[in-house]
Amino acid sequence: MKIQTNPWDDIFKQRGKVFNNPHPDMPGIVKLLKERQAKIVLDLGNGTGRHSVYLAKNGFTVFGLDSSPEAVQATQKWLSEEGLTADLKLGNMTEGLPYQDGFFDAVVSVQVINHGDSATVQRIAEEITRILKPGGLLFVTVATVKNQAKTWEQIEPNTYMPLDGQEKGLVHHFFTAEELKKVFSGFSVTNIHLDESMHYCLTALKK
Ligand SMILES: C[S@@+](CC[C@H](N)C(=O)[O-])C[C@H]1O[C@@H](n2cnc3c(N)ncnc32)[C@H](O)[C@@H]1O
Repeated sequence: MKIQTNPWDDIFKQRGKVFNNPHPDMPGIVKLLKERQAKIVLDLGNGTGRHSVYLAKNGFTVFGLDSSPEAVQATQKWLSEEGLTADLKLGNMTEGLPYQDGFFDAVVSVQVINHGDSATVQRIAEEITRILKPGGLLFVTVATVKNQAKTWEQIEPNTYMPLDGQEKGLVHHFFTAEELKKVFSGFSVTNIHLDESMHYCLTALKK
């Protein structure tokens, strides 16, 4: 599988974990998952593992996919240190998700699926929809505003590439709430709100 250049690999190499604590919505998401008797969860774009570890600790069967080798290695290390396991894969979400239809009870993806233009984002959303069971839960957070870099090149409406900073060269799509709901039109939205880092957080159930 061809892995595109992903600046996050260098960021994790240079800065280590970067994200240490789970997203503030995660305790609520875990409560919902337990109420719904969810078992199998994908951490899409697992990074260095804060959500994979949190979910595994809470008793879920965790799968993870990330295109950064450093991220996959760091997540594996963190899980091992905690005596936990997960099925981690190195893979590029823009090339399809390597799982069967309806395999997952839930998909969690924090600050990941906005890495691409609008057509790419649409394809990833279709893949997430495909691999979730009917009634499966989605928790996704996406960027809404440009941050970090000083200079951005516009690729298309609401899609920009940073020309400097740590994420240089990595295309970002910035969402409106309406667009996020439209991209996941196969879902019933249970909650949508902005978090402290200006990412929209969507909780939704597959119809
Ligand atoms: C901002 S970090 C978030 C990491 C993690 N979700 C968290 O919340 O700690 C973005 C992650 O998305 C991953 N990523 C970016 N593009 C990707 C792609 N095309 N396929 C898979 N993972 C990707 C990066 O390697 C990185 O781990």
